[in-house]
Amino acid sequence: MTILLLGSGGREHALAWKMLQSEHCSKLLVAPGNAGTAAIAENVNINPNDFEAVKNLVLTEKVDMVVVGPEDPLVKGIFDYFQQDVVLKDIPVIGPSKIGAQLEGSKEFAKEFLVKHNIPTAAYDSFTKDTVEAGCQFLTTLQPPYVLKADGLAAGKGVLIIQDLAEAQAELRNMLVNEKFGSASAKVVIEEFLDGIELSCFVLTDGKNYKILPTAKDYKRIGEGDTGLNTGGMGAVSPVPFADAVLMEKIESRIVKPTIDGLQKDGIPYKGFVFIGLIKVGNEPFVIEYNVRMGDPETEVVMPRLKSDLVSLFKAVATQTLDQEELEIDPRSATTIMVVSGGYPEDYEKGKAISGLEQVDGSIVFHAGTTLQNDQVVTNGGRVLAVTSYGDTFQEAIKKSYQNIDKLNFDKMYFRKDIGFDL
Ligand code: AMP
Ligand code: GLY
Repeated sequence: MTILLLGSGGREHALAWKMLQSEHCSKLLVAPGNAGTAAIAENVNINPNDFEAVKNLVLTEKVDMVVVGPEDPLVKGIFDYFQQDVVLKDIPVIGPSKIGAQLEGSKEFAKEFLVKHNIPTAAYDSFTKDTVEAGCQFLTTLQPPYVLKADGLAAGKGVLIIQDLAEAQAELRNMLVNEKFGSASAKVVIEEFLDGIELSCFVLTDGKNYKILPTAKDYKRIGEGDTGLNTGGMGAVSPVPFADAVLMEKIESRIVKPTIDGLQKDGIPYKGFVFIGLIKVGNEPFVIEYNVRMGDPETEVVMPRLKSDLVSLFKAVATQTLDQEELEIDPRSATTIMVVSGGYPEDYEKGKAISGLEQVDGSIVFHAGTTLQNDQVVTNGGRVLAVTSYGDTFQEAIKKSYQNIDKLNFDKMYFRKDIGFDL
């Protein structure tokens, strides 16, 4: 098969690496990809949100399957675009329909879905410009800290957690009236704060059947000890040591199964990944968010632990026969450490030459934000490389990643030295 993968991050490099191990994948195109995907597949410089360009590529290259990495094209409806096109309708797209993608595209939609299907989540209410005073009043009924979430996609920046009531009220006005996050904050969800430890559960579904992939925990803050600004993720560990059989049973019966059943009951077509962000409060799991794609950098630890053929799984997703597939998982731990550009997640420079890549030994380097400049790999984003290792314990895996990171260098390179510190 010829497969087209959309996206350009570490997630896509890891998905590409995994798909290329399949006997079903004879040719892999990545659009637009990065220097890492260029080394193993064929990059095509088109924007995944330009559906017409995607269509032209699919037709000229006779693509048999499209795998969507990031959320944007899904929220914009790429699945439906294919289904509604006479020449594209039989080409499977791995990803949810436009309405399914609202689980990530609208926090309010996700909360309504969770409540409707009795899935444990934080209590909430949502407000608009016209109900801003009621929102300020609602905040007075909650205990601090206050959780404010912009309804729409805000590049991972739309969630504010604030200690002080007056400040929370001011920020609520700022989001609703001054459109702090543009149209994404035309509506704001205010949520009860859940105090616990986070983990993520990844599910692959054909809309009817599902497989639970390995759990992972990511480290979102830029600074050590989970301090400072939020990032896309600075490292990840899989499996999550505290996700024991008892917790996993609760997650499956109270959250995963009702989610997939709920999609079916609501008539929402969904053939792709569901990334469920969870908080364990005491011993009970609660959903804090859905994403409609794999996580980044979680993919860089989940894919290395998946022993089953990923393309076979995708084919089963397309034909709704996922119940006939077996999942085989590597029992070892996998960890990844993100190497980022100095300044990230705020301003940073690009185009820095990266050295030492060929000296890495015993780890897999997934490229996140890189490009080629006259055959030289240079930085091209905030998150630059994800260095993944296996170990019998997560500590051993982390040690290996750090040993290899010591061989890498670029100007103003930064990484967290404490991934896994809380486990
Ligand atoms: P989200 O974009 O929904 O993942 O939220 C970003 C981060 O905010 C999460 O990873 C959590 O650390 C935190 N968060 C979100 N909702 C809650 C909540 N209800 N209680 C506590 N922390 C939360
Ligand atoms: N690492 C979190 C995310 O991909 O959203």
